[in-house]
Amino acid sequence: MLLLTLITTLSVASSQNTRLLDQLPLLGLSNLIEQTVRPSVPQNLASYDFIVVGAGAAGCTLAARLSENPQWRVALIEAGGVEDIMHLMPLLAPSMQMTASNWNYRSVPQRFACRGMHNQECALPRGKVLGGTSSINFMIYNRGNRRDFDAWAERGNHGWSYNEVLPYFLRSESAQLQGLEHSPYHNHSGPLRVENVRFRTQLAHAFVAASVEAGHPHTDYNGESQMGVSYVQATTINGRRHSAFSAYIQPVRNRRPNLHIFPFTRVTRVLFDETSKSAKGIELVYKRTKYRFIAHKEVILSAGAFNSPQLLILSGIGPEDNLKAIGLPVIQALPVGKLLYDHMCHFGPTFVTNTTGQSIFTSRITLPDILSFYLAGNGATRLSSIGGVEALAFLKSPRSTLPRDWPDLEFILVAGSLASDDGTALKLGANFRDEIYDTMFRPLQMAQQDHFTVLVMQFHPKSVGRLWLHKRDPFTWPKIDPKYFLDEEDVEYLLDGIKETLRIAQMPALKAIGTTLLDRPVPGCEEFSFGSDDYWRCSIRTMSYTLHHQVATCRMGPATDPSAVVSPQLKVHGVRKLRVVDTSIIPLPPTAHTNAAAFMIGEKAADLIRADWS
Ligand SMILES: Cc1cc2nc3c(=O)[nH]c(=O)nc-3n(C[C@H](O)[C@H](O)[C@H](O)COP(=O)(O)OP(=O)(O)OC[C@H]3O[C@@H](n4cnc5c(N)ncnc54)[C@H](O)[C@@H]3O)c2cc1C
Ligand SMILES: *[C@@H]1O[C@H](CO)[C@@H](O)[C@H](O)[C@H]1NC(C)=O
Ligand SMILES: *[C@@H]1O[C@H](CO)[C@@H](O)[C@H](O)[C@H]1NC(C)=O
Repeated sequence: MLLLTLITTLSVASSQNTRLLDQLPLLGLSNLIEQTVRPSVPQNLASYDFIVVGAGAAGCTLAARLSENPQWRVALIEAGGVEDIMHLMPLLAPSMQMTASNWNYRSVPQRFACRGMHNQECALPRGKVLGGTSSINFMIYNRGNRRDFDAWAERGNHGWSYNEVLPYFLRSESAQLQGLEHSPYHNHSGPLRVENVRFRTQLAHAFVAASVEAGHPHTDYNGESQMGVSYVQATTINGRRHSAFSAYIQPVRNRRPNLHIFPFTRVTRVLFDETSKSAKGIELVYKRTKYRFIAHKEVILSAGAFNSPQLLILSGIGPEDNLKAIGLPVIQALPVGKLLYDHMCHFGPTFVTNTTGQSIFTSRITLPDILSFYLAGNGATRLSSIGGVEALAFLKSPRSTLPRDWPDLEFILVAGSLASDDGTALKLGANFRDEIYDTMFRPLQMAQQDHFTVLVMQFHPKSVGRLWLHKRDPFTWPKIDPKYFLDEEDVEYLLDGIKETLRIAQMPALKAIGTTLLDRPVPGCEEFSFGSDDYWRCSIRTMSYTLHHQVATCRMGPATDPSAVVSPQLKVHGVRKLRVVDTSIIPLPPTAHTNAAAFMIGEKAADLIRADWS
């Protein structure tokens, strides 16, 4: 029956000659997944041993592990709804930002970055769905550098050195990576599938070969050494997205009567016993009605790097001045939201090539592609490309003060650009002004010109942002000021990276496909001589594109650390029975994308909690 609906929808779509992809959500196809969730409806004063707030990457992992104990009643509460078949298709990753699965936050207007965005506001998407950001992200699987975690441990976070966290990365992983079957850095029996993207363009092959020619060795960036170039490893299963929900919760959902899942349910604050400063439950809103849940053992915030700090402040845990400004009594003064690190990129350079039919243009997707992907389960069509991301390179900047094995920069090879979806998703998702698209990318779209883009990302920025609340209303967005590029040296790192991409583009493997730099000047940077250092500096501050790795808003550190919000056991300092378990606890910007770490944190938190209560 479902298959029939699918086929009818798709053939209706194609006969009307409309864009196929726009038609997929029609005709109740979203029920395909919804039917398998069986959501619970809240009962006032329901009691649980553990209440996990937020079904994102860390929250799903933690709830799945805690509910392995049949004696423990676990509630998993999620503001968003359920994934549908659109989420499954990796190529559509950028389009997920245009759906109700995105909280759709914006930064406050930036002075030194995001000049190409409306009102200089950078888009800050976040997943709002069972699976959280793992259901709308780009699926790159990347753990980080040994030195990242050793630096956490050196700050007094005992138990978080690389050797101590590696087992938790492995516990979550089910790798199917060609050539790495015997690597000690990969596990094959965890819940989360990690695989190579089987679809690869000629552009990716040429980029990887040219990087090697330029002196960057082939590597497994999740293995012994990050330095070098690799085809991307993705959290997909047979070429479809494997979110935290589908990896951890879906397989056990029906076998765990002790695990209750509440989608479309918004937690508004943590309730405290004020004399003992003990979390005793939560307040939540479901269909405009308020409820309270009681936690016998613990409340755990896994609401992500923006919403966990928001919930703490709404509950009276935060900076005294912020609580006073919004008229909330102080339960515990802590520097919640005082730090916010992120990884800013330059969207580009973009290069054109003389190949044909290689670049990703979603408008080229055919009905047979879709049928082959969904019905035949073929994981090797272009629909399995993770938003066009095909290869990564990790490298040093000449100005670096960090050790040689600790990368400063990453290149993210995309077999396309903003033009890949005709301006229907990436441009809007990032809040780019039309002028940028029309000047630089629309001509590529019109000519269906093959091209690729290298995003240049800085790992260890000096610019530090912050988050705060300006109203006590839980339905008002937090204020987020990442202060990108406040420190000028961050721009210089990206400039170093851009120069290295230009050098790689000169290598024989890329020359052979006629690679040339797209030389349409960025609107707003015309005053600078094209390709000069000042031109690129202007481009960096205009084509600023975050990869959404916000961390440290509920920073982990020992009680002696004045910047810490949670302890190395992830317990909120100064109160009882409350933890934060998600990427907000990451104390320093990692040499990685942050999704793999969210799973690791969920796995490790489960062990910390078991150790306390078993
Ligand atoms: C567009 C995009 C692309 C990305 N691409 C990659 C990538 O390719 N690789 C990578 O490693 N990382 C990527 N990241 C980052 C990575 O996905 C996230 O850092 C990671 O998934 C965050 O996990 P988390 O558990 O901390 O939070 P989340 O997964 O964000 O989970 C938080 C959950 O809590 C829920 N919630 C929040 N507030 C409430 C409330 N009040 N009541 C109830 N529920 C609530 C949210 O709806 C959400 O489901 C990307 C991020 C974005 C936004
Ligand atoms: C692999 O994952 C399984 C399941 O999580 C776990 O039991 C096992 O210990 C892991 N193996 C290694 C080598 O970490
Ligand atoms: C692409 O350009 C390269 C370098 O100029 C050239 O050798 C090659 O023949 C060209 N290929 C096509 C298909 O035009």
